[in-house]
Amino acid sequence: MNNFKGKKILLIICGGIAAYKSLEIIRLLKKNGSFVKTILTKNAKKFITPLSVASLSQEKVYSDLFDHKNESEMDHISLSRWSDLILIAPATANTIAKISYGMADDLASTIVLAANKNIFLAPAMNVRMWEHISNKENIKKLKNFGYKIIGPEIGDMACGEFGEGKMTEPQSILNFLNNYFESTKKKNKYKALVTAGPTHEYIDPVRYISNRSSGKQGYEIAKSLKKNGFDTTLISGPTNLEPIPEVNLIKVRSAEEMYNATLENLPVDVAIFSAAVSDYKVKNKENEKIKKKDFMNLNLEKNPDILANISKHNSLRPKIVIGFAAETNNLNKNSKKKLSEKNCDWIIANNVSDKSIGFDSDFNEVSIFYKNNSIEKIPKMKKSLLADQIVSKVIYYLN
Ligand code: PMT
Repeated sequence: MNNFKGKKILLIICGGIAAYKSLEIIRLLKKNGSFVKTILTKNAKKFITPLSVASLSQEKVYSDLFDHKNESEMDHISLSRWSDLILIAPATANTIAKISYGMADDLASTIVLAANKNIFLAPAMNVRMWEHISNKENIKKLKNFGYKIIGPEIGDMACGEFGEGKMTEPQSILNFLNNYFESTKKKNKYKALVTAGPTHEYIDPVRYISNRSSGKQGYEIAKSLKKNGFDTTLISGPTNLEPIPEVNLIKVRSAEEMYNATLENLPVDVAIFSAAVSDYKVKNKENEKIKKKDFMNLNLEKNPDILANISKHNSLRPKIVIGFAAETNNLNKNSKKKLSEKNCDWIIANNVSDKSIGFDSDFNEVSIFYKNNSIEKIPKMKKSLLADQIVSKVIYYLN
């Protein structure tokens, strides 16, 4: 089945002898109905010309990071946002190394770093380069980031040697991408729900109690679910974050509103509870602003535990329920306790006493506690990347 019709492919061509095969990739993608925008690295231009690429793709060819004309038309961010996926073919050892270290010294590497789309690499290089320990480490890193590696194949190389390192043939690369689009269509049947941000529990019309949370981690998870084809609902407490295109955003203020919105949006296949829900609410909320006094006592009562209630729901429990645990001490013990008491499948625990991760930061470092008692430590990384890792584990679990 042809899944390419109307798809927008951003093709990055690096400087290797296999670059000539990328012309065939463009030809096949166009023949199958895709739109193709292309980026040539500086070295790629030594192997193929922008004119031949432009003629085949019927599009402008991008190359320079600081090209004022192109930047005003389509900058490195818009190029990634335009695409349905990014394909790097051929991916040279140099580009693989650069993106595994997060470098951004040309248009191609900057786009990859700024990308919010799935990235596919078709490596091509000499067998010794492919087998070099540093290249192997870089590939391993990229796989962990969730990048998909196509090939390389074993065979005779342009340099006269034989071994693994040949770029996968264009038609096989297209077959790989076609399967990916097919699986995305299947994933579309999956529904996801994410809670994010804090809740505000009002004392009077002016004052409230709350928990710390910017919502960043939950929004990144919703973004990644959407990117991977899930029909996604995001139930968000008050945050300063922008809505995510094509994600059903439901804004709430209190824990009770969050709980009701969650119930109204079931059933789903996966529910991920990253919100920092206030455990307590004020028992007798005043309708008018309370006048200042020397002392004031607040009478609090417990809020519904959204995660525990959904996780223990008789008929509406999602196939996979994932909670978070924000801990300042005894991370292991408290997380295991939450896993069992809240009946979750996984608890994702972060140590929020570390100021460089957790609340507000763009980074997080977590341990995943699974129902089968195993624990997986995930190193410090951007919340967006962690979101991708969590979502690829969810996809694996659901399939
Ligand atoms: O929002 P950011 O600034 O990006 O920060 C991310 C984060 C630190 C808030 C996030 O990674 C995180 O840890 N979220 C959970 C925070 C929390 O309240 O943890 P908890 O240990 O108190 O709660 C455990 C679990 O129960 C959580 O999944 C929570 O959403 C859920 N819960 C708690 C209380 C309640 N009444 N209802 C719930 O659903």
